[in-house]
Amino acid sequence: MGKDSITITNNATGNSEEFPLLSGTHGPSVIDIRQLYQKMGLFTFDPGFKSTASCESEVTFINGEEGILLYRGYPIEELAEKSNFLEVCYLILYGELPTREEYDNFVTIITHHTMVHEGFKDFIKGFRPNAHPMAVMVGMVGAMSSFYHDSTDVNNPKHQEISAHRLVAKMPTIAAMAYKYTQGQPFVYPRNDLSYAANFLNMMYSLPAEPYEIDPLHAKALDLILILHADHEQNASTSTVRLAGSSGANPFAAASAGIGCLWGAAHGGANEAVLVMLDQIGSVDQIPKFVAKAKDKNDPFRLMGFGHRVYKNYDPRARIIRKMAIEIIEKTEGKDPLLDIAMRLEEIALNDEYFIEKKLYPNVDFYSGIIYKAIGIPTDMFTVIFAMGRMAGWMAQWQEMISDPNRVIGRPRQNYVGAAKREYIAVDGR
Ligand code: CMC
Repeated sequence: MGKDSITITNNATGNSEEFPLLSGTHGPSVIDIRQLYQKMGLFTFDPGFKSTASCESEVTFINGEEGILLYRGYPIEELAEKSNFLEVCYLILYGELPTREEYDNFVTIITHHTMVHEGFKDFIKGFRPNAHPMAVMVGMVGAMSSFYHDSTDVNNPKHQEISAHRLVAKMPTIAAMAYKYTQGQPFVYPRNDLSYAANFLNMMYSLPAEPYEIDPLHAKALDLILILHADHEQNASTSTVRLAGSSGANPFAAASAGIGCLWGAAHGGANEAVLVMLDQIGSVDQIPKFVAKAKDKNDPFRLMGFGHRVYKNYDPRARIIRKMAIEIIEKTEGKDPLLDIAMRLEEIALNDEYFIEKKLYPNVDFYSGIIYKAIGIPTDMFTVIFAMGRMAGWMAQWQEMISDPNRVIGRPRQNYVGAAKREYIAVDGR
């Protein structure tokens, strides 16, 4: 048996076969089972992909046990402290930190692609005025494939790049339009003199009757949140983007699929669910009751914003964003009582045996929800902002997948447990 291989034996038949063990830069080795079915007539069974590497990737590395997150090799802590969202987007999309010239050029490109086709204004009117903004995002981003059909040749590297630029650049504009539409307010055009985060805040809150004064701390907090959400390895929405794109579907369609997946409360929807939960808890004295509910095996209630599939130590993004949450809360005038509940809940859960034993720590969504609340972002826009941050990651992962010379359509198999083969009986004979 080779050192870099593993032997699988079928105890029922005695058949033994050797499979390669592949090593990456960091992280556990993977068993290359691509020939498993051909050699042994077996499938693997791993619903939820708890032990399955679905691809090779150079974008992001996570070590859940040690709480490590690297974008293209750079620790998230350093990027959060020293970089900014657009530089991080460049890093994620192109693999290296930009030179000054590359950075300036990238910022110019993104800034000059923030406007959307005027036809979007008519398109959005088809949505019900009370539509959830994530529903609008799924539709509008998917519709980009009709408005920007000139960059949908997935095998053309130039089209891949232009689509990525368009998606990163236009997400804030589309997101703010989704919000303005629900408010019955006029859409606000992007401003090229503002940073990515400040421009989004301006498009959200500015009115023809009254210009919006951007609080630099709010823009800084938003930029930080976007950095922390920019990529996260093969999470559910990224895997969705890869799978949707593996058929050759265009990047706008694949991104729209990713937004749909992100919406769920177990994923990006958790930041919204945190606020809904805090509202439900209502007051500090109710916290023990809800903590007890979360611990009760017969109660489906979970503490939203706690726990993570990969981080079983501490979510490194949570540590970074917690500092910002506290800074913002301290500077917020007329503090919302929900923020008191949040901070007390964090304290109680962190000291509770159940949460300690199961390694359930507050995750990034717990604190991002608190920051959004403190800076006045409406609850149903929380996941939209997550999507805005994640777009660079989705596009880098999509491009990596689509440019792989060995690309094949993603097509899992199954363990069929339905009815055995049987004969059709005509309706009167049943
Ligand atoms: N509150 C109470 N109990 C929990 C929680 C929670 N938030 N999360 C997990 N548990 C318990 C769970 O009941 C289970 O207990 P037992 O072993 O006794 O059956 C154990 O901890 C392990 O849970 P799991 O569901 O097997 O863990 P998972 O890795 O499949 O799920 C999770 C991870 C994030 C879906 C889950 O922790 C959860 O539902 N958290 C709340 C939603 C949330 O905050 N999601 C945001 C994730 S971070 C951002 C993102 O990725 O989008």
